[in-house]
Amino acid sequence: MRIVVVGGTGHVGTFLMPRLVEAGYEIVNVSRGERQPYQAHAAWRSVEQIAMDRTALEEQDNFGAVIAALEPDIVIDMICFTQDSARQLVEALKGRVQHFLLTGSVWVHGHSVQVPYSEEEAREPFGEYGIQKAKIERYLLDQARRYGFPATVVHPGHIVGPGWRPINPAGNVDLAVFEKLGSGEELALPNFGLGQLHHVHADDVAQVFFRSILNWSNAVGEAFHAVSPAALTLRGYAEAVAGWFGQEANLRYLPWGEWIKTVSAQDAILTEDHIRHSPSASIAKAQRLIGCQPRYTSLEAIYESVSWLIDHGNLCCPELR
Ligand SMILES: NC(=O)c1ccc[n+]([C@@H]2O[C@H](COP(=O)([O-])OP(=O)(O)OC[C@H]3O[C@@H](n4cnc5c(N)ncnc54)[C@H](OP(=O)(O)O)[C@@H]3O)[C@@H](O)[C@H]2O)c1
Repeated sequence: MRIVVVGGTGHVGTFLMPRLVEAGYEIVNVSRGERQPYQAHAAWRSVEQIAMDRTALEEQDNFGAVIAALEPDIVIDMICFTQDSARQLVEALKGRVQHFLLTGSVWVHGHSVQVPYSEEEAREPFGEYGIQKAKIERYLLDQARRYGFPATVVHPGHIVGPGWRPINPAGNVDLAVFEKLGSGEELALPNFGLGQLHHVHADDVAQVFFRSILNWSNAVGEAFHAVSPAALTLRGYAEAVAGWFGQEANLRYLPWGEWIKTVSAQDAILTEDHIRHSPSASIAKAQRLIGCQPRYTSLEAIYESVSWLIDHGNLCCPELR
């Protein structure tokens, strides 16, 4: 089987492509060729690389036709952000592929009601990114129901792994937050520190894609969360990180209006987006229908990332315990 992956050299592709190669699939990666995977792996030698810019081809309404001409049995779309973009691919691939998988986001849920929320909960997205991802999901699952288009949507939480910055216990990507916790310095958290984050190791996202392909009949027409077994509160996360450095977390809680004065405008925007969503998604459906078992808890996944950042001189912290 020939699998074309659009955007296969990023976070998820770093772990997914070697899995697919090792399972015996013929793999084609489509990207601009501007970046390398986060980790080297011998399997990349077997991946056919095709350089193209999706955005440029979409402007000519040609991207779907170019992907169809690669004659894939399966297409995995890692980088779709609008319904129109999804439509171009679906129109070109209808009746020509056995499976079409696309990366969504748990942001499709917007405000949660019951937590952890299942894939069946109502969608109340807010913010352009989540609204667009929810439109894409609705469109694809509708195409599956009405016309038998073999779509599966995978919704990751905050992707984490070696090679990049995890969302930190303040809900943004400022590395100084880890340094403060590592040195016992005071860290201010918004409100009571009870906003939630839901991380997932990139390898566990790859697992959801992989097992969707292996369990085709249970995966087609379905959406799956790709998250760790449990979300974290900001304060619980901060306390755990401080413990990794042998410290007790020195936390202070500030009302939102006060807290945003202590951080950059960019960090405040990121934190607001994260704690307004406060995701807590269930992985039960992927466990039940396609046999997924996340390898990492949220803290295990973040630990791996933080330890990579220290080893590569990106974080000035004492030794991890
Ligand atoms: N990051 C998160 O925490 C998170 C959470 C939930 C959902 N998601 C979803 O995850 C998906 C991203 O997956 P990822 O994090 O594995 O990807 P990523 O690390 O952002 O990598 C993007 C991939 O797409 C390629 N690419 C980017 N622009 C392109 C273009 N115009 N034409 C062709 N190729 C292009 C990149 O290679 P080149 O640069 O070489 O082209 C790379 O292979 C998105 O759909 C995002 O919404 C992410």
